[in-house]
Amino acid sequence: MDVHNVSLEISAVRPEQYPTTDWPEIALVGRSNVGKSSLTNTLINRKSFARTSSQPGKTQTLNFYNVEEQLFFVDVPGYGYAKVSKSEREKWGQMIERYLTNRSQLKGVISLVDARHAPSDDDINMYNWLMYYDIPVLVVATKADKIAKGKWNKAESIIKKGLQFDNAKSDLLMFSSITKDGKADVWQWIEEHIAE
Ligand code: GTP
Ligand code: MG
Repeated sequence: MDVHNVSLEISAVRPEQYPTTDWPEIALVGRSNVGKSSLTNTLINRKSFARTSSQPGKTQTLNFYNVEEQLFFVDVPGYGYAKVSKSEREKWGQMIERYLTNRSQLKGVISLVDARHAPSDDDINMYNWLMYYDIPVLVVATKADKIAKGKWNKAESIIKKGLQFDNAKSDLLMFSSITKDGKADVWQWIEEHIAE
């Protein structure tokens, strides 16, 4: 999709605040600081539309980005941010679970992991959880510019092994918001899934 028009439709916490359209939605999940907002910006050809920061945990609401009046990207606040309290974590979990399990418009989830490392326990839990609910998942290994291309295959196999990856139900792509590697493939995955 060639994107020119994007706007932040709403920052929602409760289901009553979700958009009332029937446009397809693609959610982005991953731990704080992994690069969800940066991926969003890359996909929509903007430098700093979705707020990015070196301050983890900044995104605290479900941010619905209206893309060309055709679909929404839903930027989900990052998990695994140590500095939030237990009750905040629980509220966060409920908000996300409510959205991901009850939203018929949701066509797929892009689950971001750091290309440089084996998946964390939180990454593994999220992946298993999405598989359990039969939600189509694209795992995007981001910050791939930080490792040499010659080592991408190795990085991919470490991630797949850590997640006990199900090739029949999910896909994996290397990605960089710096070099834009993977951008076209991520878009292709999105277009395939919103067409269904
Ligand atoms: P929260 O909103 O806090 O959950 O974080 P986020 O997942 O939205 O991460 P964000 O996009 O804000 O990126 C966090 C930091 O990582 C920023 O400093 C980005 O510039 C950097 N970053 C994101 N993607 C990449 C990438 O592909 N390569 C490199 N080198 N840095 C990246
Ligand atoms: Mg963010």
